[in-house]
Amino acid sequence: MDTPKHSDAAYQKCINPDCGAEFDCGQSLFKCPRCGELLDAQYNWDRIEVPDKLSDFARRWANRDKKLDFSGVWRFRELLNFCEDKFKVTIGEGQTILQQNDAVAKYLGAKPGCLYLQYEGLNPSGSFKDNGMAAAFSHARMVAAKSCACASTGNTSASVALYAHSCGLKCIVFIGSGRIAFGKLSQSMDYGAQTIQIHGDFDDCMHQVQDVCTKLGLYLLNSLNPFRLEGQKTIMYRIIEQLGWEVPDWIVVPGGNLGNSSAFGKAFYELKQLGLIERIPRMAIINATGADTLTKLVNNKKLLWNNGRVEQKIIDEYYADLKARNFSPYTCASAIEISRPVNLKKCLRAIDICNGVVRAVTDEEICDAKAIIGKYGLGCEPASAATIAGLKHLLAEGIIGTDERVVCVLTGHPLKDPNVTVNYHSKKQGEFSNPPIEAPNDLDEIIKLIK
Ligand code: F0G
Repeated sequence: MDTPKHSDAAYQKCINPDCGAEFDCGQSLFKCPRCGELLDAQYNWDRIEVPDKLSDFARRWANRDKKLDFSGVWRFRELLNFCEDKFKVTIGEGQTILQQNDAVAKYLGAKPGCLYLQYEGLNPSGSFKDNGMAAAFSHARMVAAKSCACASTGNTSASVALYAHSCGLKCIVFIGSGRIAFGKLSQSMDYGAQTIQIHGDFDDCMHQVQDVCTKLGLYLLNSLNPFRLEGQKTIMYRIIEQLGWEVPDWIVVPGGNLGNSSAFGKAFYELKQLGLIERIPRMAIINATGADTLTKLVNNKKLLWNNGRVEQKIIDEYYADLKARNFSPYTCASAIEISRPVNLKKCLRAIDICNGVVRAVTDEEICDAKAIIGKYGLGCEPASAATIAGLKHLLAEGIIGTDERVVCVLTGHPLKDPNVTVNYHSKKQGEFSNPPIEAPNDLDEIIKLIK
């Protein structure tokens, strides 16, 4: 290996047990160079000073003037110890809140005190992606990257654009034509990224960006990047932190490219391995019915992690069928409009770790759930609302008990996609629509209209 060795504490490892190749963290890879499988960041825990108990991290709250202690990602730095402090990037990500919400619980028929909403819309670019970017851009600096790229349904591109200019990297983002929410498109342009709109969907962009990165030597920031997922683990640490260092019974998360679900499973596996938690919560991953590859593969085709020996044939046949039908995914939750999720195998591992379940919900269910989260919570974008719609199914099926402690991860801010919201309300698309009322410019008439 000709790159300098960066750390004895961390390394990259292929997730394929029949390969298991290891690489130094100083290398910029997004797939195993030997077998083409996904890579993980792994740690030699005996060389890291991990606190004895999770609550020890709370001490960092006293040092909020120190940027790394203020960051909701780097506050937990021993649990993602792959780079030296001098490379670490932060723009104040992870100042998020866990809201206990009894009104939404009541709508769902869950008991008071049982439902929590982890609101990731509070991040600097308005979505959970910033957790991952703080970590991935730190790695980009560690390997002295000059230019970077990503494919995106909108939030990754917004976050990449913001972090890139904050770190002085040139940045190119690829988006599918027409399918990106306006709030997100406005961000990548405003933050100064070169925005390339490909005639195709997200899966086409994801395919192209990998080749572009390889050809031009650009640093890839999609969730194929193992260091990005390390940052996203911290969403789970913050949930545990806000529950008084207790673990919930369930985590509910939307499923798109399956980076979050993969990262969450890894986070819990490591915490258990380190003796920092006693039990691992269960996880529910929610697809939209128009982009339900995971649901079909897990629930219908019974695809399993199988200790890393995933039956590739099932996946290949499924994708061949999508191709034969010229299938392009469609959902109003454009963030998760993905039919070839790159982290599929890591997600299967997370399902195995967390005894997970998978469901798909319709656009109508997503929009109704979004209106409820808007009315009673802090609001969110459509993909995030899939969690509440999915939870409704799982409560009705009795898979999740009404007295279990459930955390739904609201991945993005409501202003990301105002079109879906305005259409739902003004065109009275659902039972919770709250359309504006037209009024003449006349005081008496206006007063008559006010209920
Ligand atoms: N929620 C939001 C708001 C998202 O933007 C995404 C993914 C997801 C959920 C799905 O997360 O991929 O980890 O399963 N957005 C990506 C993007 C694909 O390009 O912004 P996942």
